[in-house]
Amino acid sequence: MKEKILSLLNEKTYVSGEEISQQLGVSRTAIWKQMKALVAEGYTFDAVTRKGYRIVSRPDTLKSYDIWPYLTTSFLGRHIHDYEVVSSTQFVAHEYANKEAPEGTLIVADAQQQGRGRLARPWQSKQGVGISMSLLLRPQIEPQRAPQLTLLAAVAVVRAIEQVSGLSCDIKWPNDILYKGKKLVGILTEMAADPDWVKYVIVGMGVNCHHEREDFADGLADVATSIQLETGKRISRANLVAATINEFEWLYEAYVEEGFMAIKPLWEARAISLHTYVHVRTSRETLHGYALGITDDGRLRVRDEGGDIHLVYSADIEL
Ligand code: BTN
Repeated sequence: MKEKILSLLNEKTYVSGEEISQQLGVSRTAIWKQMKALVAEGYTFDAVTRKGYRIVSRPDTLKSYDIWPYLTTSFLGRHIHDYEVVSSTQFVAHEYANKEAPEGTLIVADAQQQGRGRLARPWQSKQGVGISMSLLLRPQIEPQRAPQLTLLAAVAVVRAIEQVSGLSCDIKWPNDILYKGKKLVGILTEMAADPDWVKYVIVGMGVNCHHEREDFADGLADVATSIQLETGKRISRANLVAATINEFEWLYEAYVEEGFMAIKPLWEARAISLHTYVHVRTSRETLHGYALGITDDGRLRVRDEGGDIHLVYSADIEL
């Protein structure tokens, strides 16, 4: 019901209580009760006699109905499950995926207790300051192509951050979004697959939004940053979630239709880990060499000091 009331109201025009009650088929008292609940959640309304209600400000929360007004997609993010606190949005997304949830299902949380990063590292997700979200995809691709979706996600989130905050970020292969060398976003792509075919992919994205230096524990403040720290501005997290999913949808449609070649140039334009010397640390080896570029399936091509070419699937890169 709150969701329906919010879908009728906006910042610009007044909508009368009578009209809301007619549209929703419920009493004025029932509407007033729900609006009181919305005020308790942080919404503020302007109420003018004989004109009705108008939204003055929205809280910085991550409920599905906070995200809807900014969402312009047709299939991604059309089923949103929001949580104040979860173990990890990845875990929850896997559960929904296994219960046949449709492609585009989005899990969003205000905080995670066991946020996961790549290589089983923990990911800090303190309440109220960041975005933790996981998007369920069901692409018809071979398992080895799944890493391409990490690169696609990086393009989507970089474009969304630029739209919402004005910050122009860099991408460091494979999954780090950096601003002036400090980490702003982490992306974790997981999948369930048969040997030949992907069953589903979950793209998890964690964005540092309102963090102050002290919000980063364990000395992370030297290597991580937030939109607030870099711009001095508090963006709307709901707007950024929606902008990311909006960008994701057109990129994903292009990817499904034309393959990774539609995404590759957009990714390369933002990459800082190419055409430069890099240290590459994989689970098996460490190598130093020149990053020549990425392959059409999203692997990093590195020429080592002896001139041999290595194709790297997953690694930590130091520039
Ligand atoms: C990394 O840089 O190592 C990847 C971090 C990915 C974090 C996100 S937050 C939303 C989703 N849920 C998780 O537990 N992890 C991802």
